[in-house]
Amino acid sequence: MSTATSPLPKVIAIDGPTASGKGTVASLVAAQLGYHYLDSGAIYRVLAVASEHAALDVAKPEHQDALVKLAWSLPVEFVGDRVVLQGLDVSAAIRTEEAGLHASKLAVVPDIRAGLLQRQRDFRKAPGLVADGRDMGSVVFPDASLKVFLTASAQVRAERRVRQIEGRGQKADFQAIHADLVARDERDMQRAVAPLKPYPDSRVLDCSDMGIEQVVQTIIGWAQSV
Ligand code: DC
Repeated sequence: MSTATSPLPKVIAIDGPTASGKGTVASLVAAQLGYHYLDSGAIYRVLAVASEHAALDVAKPEHQDALVKLAWSLPVEFVGDRVVLQGLDVSAAIRTEEAGLHASKLAVVPDIRAGLLQRQRDFRKAPGLVADGRDMGSVVFPDASLKVFLTASAQVRAERRVRQIEGRGQKADFQAIHADLVARDERDMQRAVAPLKPYPDSRVLDCSDMGIEQVVQTIIGWAQSV
């Protein structure tokens, strides 16, 4: 009997700061390659919304154990484009700036990150996976065949975020968004566990002056060469 095991499905890891366009880019790369797609930030955001529902505050030490438990048991389902938390559609609720900021505070806690790890790895299925986040290439899928660090200047990212929010018919304050984004980058980069940074084996792509399609084709070109 053969003892050979089949290789694990390929992973393309796309990490980078908030509003770098990695979500759009990663899902387009996944669609073109026929791969699965993991938006790992959505999982942190769902935890943020779930902790609000449970009235748990990450700033309160007495809530830490309950938050870690919630991370391990988070009752979330991804149904097509919809994100469902215990039967409740939270697809819109997780996309607010507030949920993003809250997620970044939860993401600093190592035991919370550990609780969400296997849930992310479960997305790795044949024929392959494109995963976007902050630590896809370092912690979650260190054996990814391609690791991209996608970035853009804070100015360009804030402008994109404003367009996104206005596109939803909501009002956006550029200065406030720019400040939030810089604060979130700072927290994501400075945390002790899985900080946001390019790793020695990642390819850095600054897309400040690139269109989405150009970014997608660059990554697909790289994916085909590894
Ligand atoms: O990518 P995003 O903006 O949806 O992520 C929201 C927050 O979740 C982000 O500020 C930090 C955290 N996060 C993380 O720490 N690790 C990931 N792999 C993805 C997100």
